[in-house]
Amino acid sequence: MRLKDKVLLVTGGGSGIGAATCIAYANEGARVAVVNRTLSKAEAVVQTIHENGGTAIAIQADVAQSADVQRMITITIEQFERIDGVYNNAGISPSGRVTDITEAEWDECLNIDLKAIFLCAKFVIPHMQAQGGGVILNTAGTFGIRAAKNKAAYSTAKAGAINLTRSIALDYAEDNIRCNAICPGFVVTPLTEGFDTAGRDEFLDQYQPLRGLIQADEVAEMAVYLASDAAKMVTGQAFVIDGGQQAGLFVG
Ligand SMILES: NC(=O)c1ccc[n+]([C@@H]2O[C@H](COP(=O)([O-])OP(=O)(O)OC[C@H]3O[C@@H](n4cnc5c(N)ncnc54)[C@H](O)[C@@H]3O)[C@@H](O)[C@H]2O)c1
Repeated sequence: MRLKDKVLLVTGGGSGIGAATCIAYANEGARVAVVNRTLSKAEAVVQTIHENGGTAIAIQADVAQSADVQRMITITIEQFERIDGVYNNAGISPSGRVTDITEAEWDECLNIDLKAIFLCAKFVIPHMQAQGGGVILNTAGTFGIRAAKNKAAYSTAKAGAINLTRSIALDYAEDNIRCNAICPGFVVTPLTEGFDTAGRDEFLDQYQPLRGLIQADEVAEMAVYLASDAAKMVTGQAFVIDGGQQAGLFVG
């Protein structure tokens, strides 16, 4: 029970990495606020947690909307009386070069994958300061470390997420607030389901030294550690889980 009695909120908790993390958090004794834009997905994860004997609530919110972000934090504190951690994990992964995408598509990606972290931090930090500390986690990605072709908005947003992580870590360490990012490589989730299998395998053969597909619950395990007191001296870092992709430029 590495997270016993902690209150943790996870955005994008209705699917993929977020859902696996909500379930792992609850299994480790946390009370979990499962936030998703589509409520039914959050409710399904809450049901699984309840069936496992855990405690969780579902909250509908669009993390790109300031009012929704404030509301999800308020509801969590009303329900559980505190908030020990937030995991900004909701994200979209649009493709396109700068000449291909519209301004609206750029704004949508930057708002969900980057601005949402700013909004959540802005509104949760005062509560954490009043409580004596807290944890903020963000899902960035390896494309935030090195850009990928045809992913201009996504690569930019994820790079911003990594440096925003460092900024928050520096600015609020004195309040005992830790902030870290997780940078997954290619993880099997609904987000990547649409990728054609041959293209995926070719990519992984070329760029991922460890064979095999990364599973969402393997990312969740890292999110458990970073939210736990075992990581109390860990802040301002971007943790890569990518089967070794970032270890070298030419793998294959
Ligand atoms: N799957 C991968 O290979 C991979 C790799 C690197 C980074 N990531 C990142 O991991 C995070 C989770 O991705 P996933 O693969 O689990 O995807 P997913 O599509 O399975 O889950 C993302 C969830 O976020 C929710 N969401 C999207 N926009 C939202 C919004 N505005 N407000 C609230 N909820 C919203 C979706 O409804 C969905 O439930 C994302 O930030 C993604 O960019 C994923």
